[in-house]
Amino acid sequence: GKGGWKDFDERDLLLSYNALKVLEARYLLKNPDTLRYVETPQMMFRRVANFLAKVDLSYGKTEEEVRKVADRFYEVMSSLKFLPNTPTLMNSGTRLGVLSACFVLPVRDSMTTPEGEGIYDTLRAMALVHQQGGGTGFDFSELRPKGDTVASTAGVASGPISFMKIFDVSTDVVKQGGKRRGANMGIMHVWHPDVRDFIKSKTGQLKDAQLQNFNISVGMYDYFMRAVEREEDVPLINPRKTKVPGKGWDYYIVKARGYMDEEYVQEFILNELEEKGGSVWLDESAFVTVDEAMVIAEREGAVTGRVNARAVFDEIVRGAWDSGDPGIVFIDEINRRHPIYYVSKIQATNPCAEEPLLSWESCNLGSINLEKFVIEGDKPTIDWDSLAETITYAVRMLDNVIDANRYPLKQIEDATKKTRKVGLGVMGFSRLLVRLGIPYDSPDALYVSYNLAKFVYYHAFKASIELASEKGSFPAYNPQLYRDIFDTAKPFADMLEILSIKPQVSPSVRKMMERAEKLDFSELKALRVKNGLRNSTVMSIAPTGTISIIAGTSSGIEPLFALAFIRNVAVGKFMEVDPLFLEYLRKYELDDPEVVSKIAETGSVSENVFMPRTIRNIFRTAHEVGPEYHLLHQACWQQWNDSGVSKTINMRSEETPETVSKVYLSAWKLGIKGITVYRDRSKSQQVIYFGIKK
Ligand code: CDP
Repeated sequence: GKGGWKDFDERDLLLSYNALKVLEARYLLKNPDTLRYVETPQMMFRRVANFLAKVDLSYGKTEEEVRKVADRFYEVMSSLKFLPNTPTLMNSGTRLGVLSACFVLPVRDSMTTPEGEGIYDTLRAMALVHQQGGGTGFDFSELRPKGDTVASTAGVASGPISFMKIFDVSTDVVKQGGKRRGANMGIMHVWHPDVRDFIKSKTGQLKDAQLQNFNISVGMYDYFMRAVEREEDVPLINPRKTKVPGKGWDYYIVKARGYMDEEYVQEFILNELEEKGGSVWLDESAFVTVDEAMVIAEREGAVTGRVNARAVFDEIVRGAWDSGDPGIVFIDEINRRHPIYYVSKIQATNPCAEEPLLSWESCNLGSINLEKFVIEGDKPTIDWDSLAETITYAVRMLDNVIDANRYPLKQIEDATKKTRKVGLGVMGFSRLLVRLGIPYDSPDALYVSYNLAKFVYYHAFKASIELASEKGSFPAYNPQLYRDIFDTAKPFADMLEILSIKPQVSPSVRKMMERAEKLDFSELKALRVKNGLRNSTVMSIAPTGTISIIAGTSSGIEPLFALAFIRNVAVGKFMEVDPLFLEYLRKYELDDPEVVSKIAETGSVSENVFMPRTIRNIFRTAHEVGPEYHLLHQACWQQWNDSGVSKTINMRSEETPETVSKVYLSAWKLGIKGITVYRDRSKSQQVIYFGIKK
């Protein structure tokens, strides 16, 4: 616009070279005939802002009000304080219209079903989602095991893994129009008879060969983890024989464990939901014991054998040590802390596990760039007011995405609009720490994690309550049944104690985090009950793989990967030196090319005895940070978060399977919902190598 171009140009200067490369290659719109660009980065932000703000017209807002909202949306994006996930940036206002990154699709034990949930129905749904840049997660454990009978053809079943291979090939073929390769999460619950084949499906000789478009995770249960500790045997269950179609062994476990306290079940679910035809998996026998559940399964002929839980766990650990797969998702923890547990049970997550979702649900994500909220100075601190304001606009924007979305399938639209999940996350966390002068692997840093998570959650939740007053609650909202996750957040000291780390936090950091520390959630709860809630979940810590490049910051809550490294992305290879690191070198007059290129050989400085102590402490990279600190940061961000956290527990290549075993066991104790490890160089292809000497 007139006069506006000057501002636009200045905002473009915030973008790094890599950001421009990525935007140019995949995000900026082109004329399909001439292939010329039809927008600049600022025009892209405008396109997204206007398209999303327009939704408010249908909620009775005037053109003028909508313009104001659009300006705010534009402001938070173009200042790189907040970015929505890739599909929203790419597809807003275009002919494509899928704006969400995360989907979970059901897979029933049938070729096709009237509800469109059979294996080949889902294959089609997956292709439609991938085409537009979304990622899909599946629980394959309802499929009958390999070698089981197929009544209609008197044949033999080929088992879930063979079907996964078809999904994998389809993903390869669709390749999302060259913009984004499809990503999948394949889950098998630990009671399935084929679980050992599943565990090995991406390790050893198969690691760089099979299911390359899948992350895989074992769906784990508390009963199983306890059996691991006691080295006990556990049953394997044939899902076809459980007489409750589509429920499998975990149907019994749900009955056995219950995810809620008895009062809830008695008073509300049994009476109220039954009348409304509530979910099938909860019935009067929700409180049988595990032993009783086994007796039922046995009686119904569903138990196919028994395995030693420790042996299976060791195989999971060995696979993860060898190749990074499988990860684990903790199904009990996911459902215990699912605020709308009363709608149904969660069986799966999206590809990077930050979104545990019900069948057919989708979720759109967006992340706050924390680095932008540091007030520099002798004693750097956090700009809490600006952060709170950005969170409020971010949540409004994400909520509008739900209405602006064009859903590829009716089932996805219905499920998504019923629960209205959004996922506000963060990026630039480790760079915020650097700017605050706090080493990532310190109790101080953990304290920052814990309280920042609390602050983000508080304001996101508050924003969603305010949106409910304005636009109404999500249709599946039930003020009495809704479970507030802040009631079950683990105390900071308790978590550190689990890993024998003293919760010693320096007074200055305590002071800095006071604003978050003091937040009162009981008031918020009263507000929620009174005014309603717009979104059944509001938070989620995404990997921010590409949007962190656009924002020019570190990804998610991960530590710096390397101070200098080569990045392989779809559009080419980049050699990068961390600019923040360069700034520090400059302070100490160490920014000579000789010094920098020497550092780039290994990517790190912590073992370089000639480096100033401050630099060595603050610039700790992912492989120098011990697994316990990786885990605890993840656990801190999980406490104040109604969805999940995407995090990779990066390890040096010398680490042993024992370390992986400890990490997986501790993750369970810390209340983490999903865990993935990655040992450096354990795969032949990885996105980022650190150091330029190979
Ligand atoms: O940074 P960006 O918004 O591009 O995405 P991300 O935070 O790295 O990933 C968020 C989610 O997008 C993942 O968990 C997947 O569900 C999905 N995704 C995908 O489907 N395909 C990809 N190539 C990358 C991400």
